[in-house]
Amino acid sequence: MFDHLKPQPQDKILQLIQMFREDPRTTKIDLGVGVYKDATGLTPVMRAVKAAEKKLWEVETTKTYTGLAGEPAYNAALAGMILGDAVGMERVASVATPGGTGAIRQALELIKLATPEATVWLSNPTWPNHPSIIKYLGMKMAEYRYFDAETRGVDFGGLIEDLGAVKAGDVVLLHGCCHNPTGANLDAGQWAQVVTLLVARGAVPLVDLAYQGFGDGLEADAAATRLVASSFPEVLIAASCSKNFGIYRERTGILVGIGAADGKGVLQGNLNFLNRQNYSFPPDHGARLVTMILEDAALKADWQAELEEVRLNMLGLRKALADELRRVTNSDRFDFVATHRGMFSRLGLTEAQVVRLREEHGIYMVGDSRINIAGLNARTVPILAAAIAQVS
Ligand code: LMR
Repeated sequence: MFDHLKPQPQDKILQLIQMFREDPRTTKIDLGVGVYKDATGLTPVMRAVKAAEKKLWEVETTKTYTGLAGEPAYNAALAGMILGDAVGMERVASVATPGGTGAIRQALELIKLATPEATVWLSNPTWPNHPSIIKYLGMKMAEYRYFDAETRGVDFGGLIEDLGAVKAGDVVLLHGCCHNPTGANLDAGQWAQVVTLLVARGAVPLVDLAYQGFGDGLEADAAATRLVASSFPEVLIAASCSKNFGIYRERTGILVGIGAADGKGVLQGNLNFLNRQNYSFPPDHGARLVTMILEDAALKADWQAELEEVRLNMLGLRKALADELRRVTNSDRFDFVATHRGMFSRLGLTEAQVVRLREEHGIYMVGDSRINIAGLNARTVPILAAAIAQVS
């Protein structure tokens, strides 16, 4: 049997982790995978998470199964954080999932179950695992223009033109905030135009919200998702707690489905069914920590304060890098770094330049020149800027 297996393409982001590990140079700099790091290079366990874990250890009396959809308190608390009061909860079904990837996978499986012929539209570029999972599931996909390689901002004209071809029932995957991999985002007016267009086309939005709190703040980063949630008859939202709670390995996510109130029972039943088929009960530890934090005023305040520190640190690094690049290139070519939001910026370097940065300077970034801003610190910003100036 196994001799029928063919080698699978390696995920470029995960491949980079391995290459970085194997590089013996002590001066190497990792700007690859999207993991937050503090100034010392550590991905810390957040204070509120540690406190919740300690309390959980004391009070947890059983590890028996939770609900198939996850703990109702978790789903309610996290859906509330994402949606605010944008939609009535009588329209909202949800399941806890293993991380944001689990939520994306379950969303796509639900779409396949309901409308196997639907085309899923992806921004070009997008997170590479989006097309990979869609291909694996044998679903149809199409691309809409997103990134303007000249300005390193959003190609809004191209985006609107391409999304004009969406057919009723097609699914459009939108990054709720902090676009991965580009770091370029729609402004509020552009979001409103996209929503008006997609409502008119009869599209079903699938929002990927993996970085709430990493861009302009917890509430601001949810604004587009809330606008989408309140504008369409049917919406799917795949959200992750990996980054904003720093609980990457706990695999903590949620899939939210919004539809007609009288269809909620069937929608919820299908979400439960998909959980059962794929892994039965979703992971609980991270979800329980998130619930404890969101339900406890003191823990929540401390978590929000630390998340804000993380966000402001990344914004400071953006500004420092943009300033330094302005200085060493004597141009405004890289000013966009300061206006991008989230963990990532696509620098617009060629693949050959990215290879030179890695081989000659020990600086690791994804092949499309996406950098993880949080991989930098005050010491490495000038090193990166000088290296970019040298290769570009
Ligand atoms: C990334 O894009 O680096 C993160 O979302 C991590 C991952 O799983 O790819």
